[in-house]
Amino acid sequence: MLIDLRSDTVTKPTKEMLQAMFEAKVGDDVWGDDLTVIELEEKVASIFGHEAALFCPSGTMTNQIAIKVHTNAPGEVICEESAHVYRYEGGGIAFNSGLSSRLIKGDKGQFTVEQLKAEINADDVHFPPTQLVAIENTCNKAGGTIWDFNEIKRISQFCKENNLPLHLDGARLYNALIETNTSEKKIGQYFDSISLCLSKGLGCPVGSLLIGSTKFIKQARRIRKIMGGGMRQAGYLAAAGIFALDNNIERLKVDHQKAKFLAQIMEKCAFVEEVTKPQSNILIFKLNTSFPTDEFIQKMKEQNILVGAMGEQKIRLVTHLDINDKMLERFEKVVKSP
Ligand SMILES: Cc1ncc(COP(=O)(O)O)c(C=O)c1O
Repeated sequence: MLIDLRSDTVTKPTKEMLQAMFEAKVGDDVWGDDLTVIELEEKVASIFGHEAALFCPSGTMTNQIAIKVHTNAPGEVICEESAHVYRYEGGGIAFNSGLSSRLIKGDKGQFTVEQLKAEINADDVHFPPTQLVAIENTCNKAGGTIWDFNEIKRISQFCKENNLPLHLDGARLYNALIETNTSEKKIGQYFDSISLCLSKGLGCPVGSLLIGSTKFIKQARRIRKIMGGGMRQAGYLAAAGIFALDNNIERLKVDHQKAKFLAQIMEKCAFVEEVTKPQSNILIFKLNTSFPTDEFIQKMKEQNILVGAMGEQKIRLVTHLDINDKMLERFEKVVKSP
């Protein structure tokens, strides 16, 4: 039995999801005639209270398209220092959009409106114009932390008052919404664009949606084509997305409970220095210095358990659809004497 706790991106489609994919009616989406893709895009846009959406191959692509469409170099994007858009997208902000990044040192991946205000550039030729603010919910590197809703509201209001678009990297947005019992429309109203991943907690094999206004999505479609993200019979993948939205959202709570259970296990381990309390499906803990990270990862691998490194002495465990109770029992046994 392989226990893969590296990421929620590792899930394989269930039989039921595969059946939905198998039965999809497809067309050529680059020509705009794949009815299943259109259904998914319309469904998501409407759920979040926006006009339109665009189905893309990955969350990196939806984020990078959003950044490209919202900005016009020279310019600057503001985000938190651990943000995926900055750290883990291959330098795409500079490469694709020719922008500089202004990083805010936040707390658990989040910053306040006061911190944001302090980073807005004055209208002065020495500085790149501030053109976009991006936040991430849940925050991956911080350990799946959930943004304070009131702070989102304050940031959104400030951005509106200052004509600054606000983008949400919602790779794991549903984890935040389910945990805080917040509706899609309630959060949707505060952002100009949202990237929503289907291939993380929602269990799809591929796919992310970019959500926004009709005008924004029209331009996003153009950029998607330039980036090579126009897909043909993509309805097979979109069908998985529709299935996930109908079936895999509520169950995210189960992943969150499992992450809490893993935290309890790790807290009891003598070789663990610190466990960050999980807020969703990601658990980060710190090994004490006597146990090098690589050695821990290797020892677990020898027992068919895959875990990921997350910085110095830090390990990340992510719960998901393909992790069951039996696996957790075995995990507990193994970490008791690794
Ligand atoms: C917060 C966040 N945003 C964006 C992405 C990018 O998604 P993808 O792997 O589909 O490009 C990830 C991937 O793990 C992520 O964690």
